[in-house]
Amino acid sequence: MNTLHLKAEEPGAAGTAAKLLREGRVVAIPTETVYGLAANALDPEAVKRIFEAKGRPQDNPLIVHVASLEEIEPLVSEIPEALCRLAEKFWPGPLTVIMKKSALVPDVVTAGLDTVAIRMPSHPVARQIIKESALPLAAPSANASGMPSPTSALHVINDLDGRIDAVIDGGECEVGVESTVISLVKNPPVLLRPGGISPEQLEEVLGKIEISHAVFEKLDAGEKPLSPGMKYKHYSPKAKVTLIKGEFEKFKAFLEAQKYETCAVCFEGEGKYFGTAVEYGRQGDCADQAEHIFAALRKVDETGCEYAFVRFPDTEGVGLAVYNRLLRSAAFRVIDLDFTIPVYGLTGQTGAGKSTVAKAFAENGFYIADTDILAREAVKNPGVIAELCGYFGADIYEGGELNRRELAKRAFASPEKTALLNKATHPEITRLTFEAIHEGEKAGAKAALIDAPVIFESALTCVCKKIVCVTAPIEERIKRIALRDGITPEETKARMSAQKDEEYYVSHSDVIIENTDIEAAREAVIKFVKEEIQ
Ligand code: TXA
Ligand code: MG
Repeated sequence: MNTLHLKAEEPGAAGTAAKLLREGRVVAIPTETVYGLAANALDPEAVKRIFEAKGRPQDNPLIVHVASLEEIEPLVSEIPEALCRLAEKFWPGPLTVIMKKSALVPDVVTAGLDTVAIRMPSHPVARQIIKESALPLAAPSANASGMPSPTSALHVINDLDGRIDAVIDGGECEVGVESTVISLVKNPPVLLRPGGISPEQLEEVLGKIEISHAVFEKLDAGEKPLSPGMKYKHYSPKAKVTLIKGEFEKFKAFLEAQKYETCAVCFEGEGKYFGTAVEYGRQGDCADQAEHIFAALRKVDETGCEYAFVRFPDTEGVGLAVYNRLLRSAAFRVIDLDFTIPVYGLTGQTGAGKSTVAKAFAENGFYIADTDILAREAVKNPGVIAELCGYFGADIYEGGELNRRELAKRAFASPEKTALLNKATHPEITRLTFEAIHEGEKAGAKAALIDAPVIFESALTCVCKKIVCVTAPIEERIKRIALRDGITPEETKARMSAQKDEEYYVSHSDVIIENTDIEAAREAVIKFVKEEIQ
């Protein structure tokens, strides 16, 4: 299909769009929030074309766009009293209201629900096209399903050129995130999706409203969402996105500690501090962040980076919508670098007696984040499972359980394979480690210790005030490992030679604890704790 590209200011552009819509065609149009992919809401065949063009799941209903209040009456079975108050205050504008539908609205629009979503956009081009077509227009965001919503005609063209009949280019969208969706079917009204109108603004008109938990959290397994759109992966660039909480200096240290090609998604003026960066608005300015977030997510993929770390947005007003979209694009991965207790690292070669020393720290009020234990958690994460299966074959999981021995065999076959294992697991282990430290904080620990044999190969060092290294003479280590794991001295030596040498560990650490004599090691821990923590 040849997609017609028209500038909104060209004479007759709106008329051409309206004509196509009346013929049952699909046309991308600008709105103040994001571009919409419109079709005649009363023509099921036309609406089906929207789903086809976007690759949208059939069970995700569409919003019906109107230009005046009179157009609503035939679409709903009753007009709730609150609608008039909302309309007076926020329409035309970035608000969508869910009401009971009438028989006139085809099932394909509402995905079989008995409710319909209605919105009156304020963008002059959208309004003109609705008026000239004299139709209610069903229109989801004009992106390929799963991609960030389009805020320019170019975004639409990148996703859908050749799949739709026309694009009307009305420049960049002002709001930048999709409309707020509120359901008036329930009492109190339920906010299903934050957007251009904030919950506070809504409460001024409606009184108390409820915010659906799906706004901030993953749906429970098997849960049926009030808004079907909530259950799909959304707004995702190809890069793996993680949201990072914490001030700029911490963000910077965290990114500098990364071992992989990463893209910093940061605020205006911060990009120059990173090798690869995309900026998404001024710090402290929610509206500016909203306006630029989707374009920024698209730019991340142009950098080719596999990982993107995003500065945490300001969450007031429309910022709540930015936060909600980022959470989804990050598949709910958030790392909080703001620790209220000091964090230290503990490392050492195999058999040096790290666990004994960690225990001594625990006895002195430290919370221990053991990365060996967390690594076992990490391999249960669906994203990690998918990555590991991709690298090492799906048969390393048997009936949902990881065959650790088989994985070790394949992953330690070469340094390249080991690097792939680390790539798949380290980011998740890091996230779990930081999450664990926050648990320790809540439990009242006075400090945290990250127990990690390969701490220098990870990004964990960036939060550590100091790194403590445990050492022991080689004969002693061989004896301990043989005793602990019941393996031969030869096997022990092979395992040891896979690690960096003692000189490497010592030169990268701040404090050395010699662990030949357990009592002496305990004393050293007590001395360290006294000096570090008042
Ligand atoms: O700003 C916007 O709302 C943009 C522009 C184009 O108007 N449109 C938009 O549409 O974002 P879409 O399809 O990408 O998102 C519509 C959301 C989905 O999450 C959908 O599940 C929800 O609204 N929705 C639609 N009808 C619904 C209904 N009857 N009940 C509950 N949720 C509904
Ligand atoms: Mg959408």
